[in-house]
Amino acid sequence: MTQHETSDITQAVLDRLAADADPRFKQIITAVVRHAHALARDVDLKPDEWMAAIQFLTRVGQTCDDKRQEFILLSDTLGISMLVVQLEQARRSLADKNARAKPTEATVQGPFYWAGAPELPLGTDIGKGMPGDPAYYSGRVTDTQGKAIARCCLDVWSGDGEGEYDMQKGPDAGMRLRARFFTDGDGSYRFWSIKPSFYPVPDDGPVGDMLRAMGRHPNRPGHIHMKVYRDGYVPLTTHLFPTDSPYLESDAVFGVRDSLIIPFARHDGGRAPDGRVMERPYHTARYDFVLAPAA
Ligand code: BEZ
Ligand code: FE
Repeated sequence: MTQHETSDITQAVLDRLAADADPRFKQIITAVVRHAHALARDVDLKPDEWMAAIQFLTRVGQTCDDKRQEFILLSDTLGISMLVVQLEQARRSLADKNARAKPTEATVQGPFYWAGAPELPLGTDIGKGMPGDPAYYSGRVTDTQGKAIARCCLDVWSGDGEGEYDMQKGPDAGMRLRARFFTDGDGSYRFWSIKPSFYPVPDDGPVGDMLRAMGRHPNRPGHIHMKVYRDGYVPLTTHLFPTDSPYLESDAVFGVRDSLIIPFARHDGGRAPDGRVMERPYHTARYDFVLAPAA
């Protein structure tokens, strides 16, 4: 087939798009066709290679169930989830022209969010009895003008100190290491949990095979997740990463932002900032979140 004939195929597909199709759908599907055809030409794609790709995507679909979402994992490990997060945040920042402070950087949500975590008083220890070193988290939530945001929800979740989430502990495991906290009148928050550890994303399915074929490891650096939200502000989904965690430079899902890496100061024991007397080593982590106003 000549180059002329192959480019006719691309145009022929695009010509079949109904004139009255939804404009945004039209824009996206046109780009999908153009880029997919360009990719096939670019690598001179062979029929058996295309069939292998189709079989791979079929396995990705077959690996999904109500707990496991292999397509999201594929999107995460190819950096597409994080790219979409960054595009959204850049679009929102352009709208907030009078900002004095930059909103906290967002990152991927991941598959382990569980809506409806218990609402607990500030200062509660959600890491009690769980593997891992205790950590005291505190800070404030303000808007991009520096004004405190009171009654702002911090919906937090993490794996334990061995990198395992409650959802991975079997069908009967209840919620662990999760809670919703609401800021005080001055926008401050505080709670106890554990210092999070690195862990691998699920790599026993087709995405794991892809990572191995690419020569990549499946690990994420230690992190604690949070959604920070209150009416009137753009909701934030983000993480905090300890500075000393392995894999900060090679997160399997490209979710690390420098601004989210913070020291977890280690203390041998003694009186913690909230007055609690600790008989074992613990960490303190401080972070102030900034939310953008809703448009
Ligand atoms: C997580 O951080 O929980 C996560 C994110 C993306 C893929 C797998 C796990
Ligand atoms: Fe995580």
